[in-house]
Amino acid sequence: MGFTPFVFNKVVVALLVTSICATKINVPRLRLSYKDLLSTNRSSIFSGHDGQLSLSAVLLDEYRDRLFLGGKDVLYSVMLSPVSSESKEIYWPPLPGKREDCIQTGKEQTECANFVRLLQPYNRTHLLACGTGAFQPMCAFIYVGHRGEHVFTTNPLNVESGRGKVPHDPSFPFTSTFSGGELYTGLTADFLGRDSVIFRSMGGRTTMRTETDQKLLHDPRFIAAHVIPDNDDRDDDKVYFFFTEKASEGGDKEEAIHTRVGRVCVNDVGGQRVLVNKWSTFIKARLVCSVPGPHGIDTHFNQLEDVFMLRTKDERNPDIYAIFSTISNVFQGFAVCVYRMADIREAFNGPFAHKEGPNYQWGPYEGRMPYPRPGVCPSKITNQPGKEFGSTKDFPDSVLQFARSHPLMWRPVLPALRQPVLVKANIPYKLKQIVVDRVEAEDGQYDVMFIGTDVGTVLKVISLQGGNSLEAEEVTLEELQVFKVPIPITSLDISVKRQALYVGSAAGVAQVKLHRCETYGKACAECCLARDPYCAWDGSSCARFVPNSKRRFRRQDVKHGNAVLQCVDQNVGDLDVTEDKVVYGTEKKSTFLECVPRSPQASVTWLVQRDDRKEEVKLDDRVMSADQGLLFRHLFRQDEGVYICRSREHSFSQTLAHISLQVLQADTVDELIARDIAGISDGFKDRSPGNHRPWMPCSTGPYSRGQIGQSRTWFKDIMQLIGPSNLPHVEEYCERMWCNDKLRRKHKSMLEKYRQAQESARKARSKGSGERNRTPRDLRLQPE
Ligand SMILES: *[C@@H]1O[C@H](CO)[C@@H](O)[C@H](O)[C@H]1NC(C)=O
Ligand SMILES: *[C@@H]1O[C@H](CO)[C@@H](O)[C@H](O)[C@H]1NC(C)=O
Repeated sequence: MGFTPFVFNKVVVALLVTSICATKINVPRLRLSYKDLLSTNRSSIFSGHDGQLSLSAVLLDEYRDRLFLGGKDVLYSVMLSPVSSESKEIYWPPLPGKREDCIQTGKEQTECANFVRLLQPYNRTHLLACGTGAFQPMCAFIYVGHRGEHVFTTNPLNVESGRGKVPHDPSFPFTSTFSGGELYTGLTADFLGRDSVIFRSMGGRTTMRTETDQKLLHDPRFIAAHVIPDNDDRDDDKVYFFFTEKASEGGDKEEAIHTRVGRVCVNDVGGQRVLVNKWSTFIKARLVCSVPGPHGIDTHFNQLEDVFMLRTKDERNPDIYAIFSTISNVFQGFAVCVYRMADIREAFNGPFAHKEGPNYQWGPYEGRMPYPRPGVCPSKITNQPGKEFGSTKDFPDSVLQFARSHPLMWRPVLPALRQPVLVKANIPYKLKQIVVDRVEAEDGQYDVMFIGTDVGTVLKVISLQGGNSLEAEEVTLEELQVFKVPIPITSLDISVKRQALYVGSAAGVAQVKLHRCETYGKACAECCLARDPYCAWDGSSCARFVPNSKRRFRRQDVKHGNAVLQCVDQNVGDLDVTEDKVVYGTEKKSTFLECVPRSPQASVTWLVQRDDRKEEVKLDDRVMSADQGLLFRHLFRQDEGVYICRSREHSFSQTLAHISLQVLQADTVDELIARDIAGISDGFKDRSPGNHRPWMPCSTGPYSRGQIGQSRTWFKDIMQLIGPSNLPHVEEYCERMWCNDKLRRKHKSMLEKYRQAQESARKARSKGSGERNRTPRDLRLQPE
């Protein structure tokens, strides 16, 4: 008795291992092609009036229900609902002569255009637009009218310099945010692209910038900028910049790249004697995104690719989602880390990084701190009795000197839960853009990530935390091929109000619905297996889950995808196929039984039923399980039987196909072919006596896939050439090679004859034996 628990545990462990291995991790639950998305109205694309948009800026205006786009020498205003329904265009080339000047300076002709890089809402009637203007940055106000009217005009003569607002070079990294009538930018502000700077311009105040000093910014690549309040005192508002730069504290590794979050006070006006019109409150900290590696050495993802600020009800505490990459000769990896504002503030409130001299190590600054603490905004908090700091101009010089010499914090910012929410290593594509939607589901709240890649796809992913394991479990719900060609996605915007994504690339902008629950299937189990927080089984279909709605009947299990539990009283059985399909194979030849599960995450098993016994199909060199079905390379008479294809996903199994395989005797077939083929001459020009082409069915109705492989020679060759996962191509190939109309008709009549012969033989055999009559129901032989 004492052994029982032990044995039991072993069994449980074995089951667990099997179930874990059976789940294919990192494979999307659903893959939707470009065609799928268009044909189901999930997506629609706008590519400009002549398809030459060369998209370089996007502004989603939810208030006006419009999408503003900037491209090469062009601006668009597109009314949403649906996209591409109504659009207006403004042609906006460089100023006269600038294109020629640009070419004169040795730039490429293609770069000497006005690439719009900035689109910001300026006031109630106008947008601010800035473009590279053929390496002469320029800005203009665009009249867009009030909500409800569709106007889109600009005065071509009313153009201002865009220096400090956008970079000269269309390819240089750049970020901007517009707040309180002022524009904050992170960019290189000169022709050569060497003057890296954080700028503030427009509004009533004098222009502010960073001092030129590698301590402050060292070859930065700016990714994002956001104004985030600290508390209810507007004087404490800060602008946060996310960027990478060369890290001087990297020690020996001189060229180490680190990701930073830097900030300035909105009310910073610079110093009185030092730092005049230069930021006096700029400080920065390292953002760390890493995973523990072997031998205790962490793998760091240092290169920042994109940042998304997920707003919450508390405007002071958005969650910061960031994509990172690390690319080396041996390893290419991507990770998504999430940062809490509390952790960012804590790093800024901690010690400053300090180095005593060139031969010293970096450490925390432990000396006396000037007051007010550098990096703090002049506000009620900094005021002391009899000592008020109305502006940064009132700060003592010691404060400004310290800020100038100690811009970096000692402690880095670690991600929430101290680890990435998503890691992808050695994948054949890159992660480029991210937006996140916080979704209310039956079993909790989920952050659904939409991630744009460099191959025109968007991944819809959730990360499940907690449970028994510390590791986050990633579930890729969908992979959407948004663009026809594999081009990089350059922008992603989300409208929660419209439940849509706006996906930008050089090919245009696609409006893509966040969800389409019907796609998952018509059964409760399929809906539950999808694990999509947007979707739930409502008793009759897979539909959008609306939290707190009156509907009581809802089945959803995002955490576990346990369809058995959720759908025990539902129409699970509906999924199982009951109809038999008949496939004929020829003895000694190869044949293929098709069975493709809806989800690539499902695993497939084959059973064979003979008489009353069901057993698993033994796989070997002769009988192989391929991506799309079961392949017999050399058919035996004993292979005849009913083959049952079952898929399994998250402990939920279903029968996908019941295929009755009938093996034609080689002699009979040869005889038939010899007799029938004599009548066809044009189909087989190269036919020589005694070397008949074997019977080859053409794609008509139910025969299509199951019988493509009847010929030993060429089928094997083709399979080897293009592989079993490309079977549809084999089919196409065969169709072209073998199936002209005359042959097709011939095959049908041959098959009919054979079927009749088999049928009468079977009837004779089964008379009185009680065998279930498996007359194929779907064997249709009508001409097309
Ligand atoms: C897609 O939209 C078009 C036009 O609005 C409509 O005619 C068509 O039925 C829709 N197709 C689907 C699958 O919803
Ligand atoms: C918005 O700004 C533009 C450009 O400065 C100006 O012409 C227009 O009058 C402003 N509109 C409003 C409503 O303030």
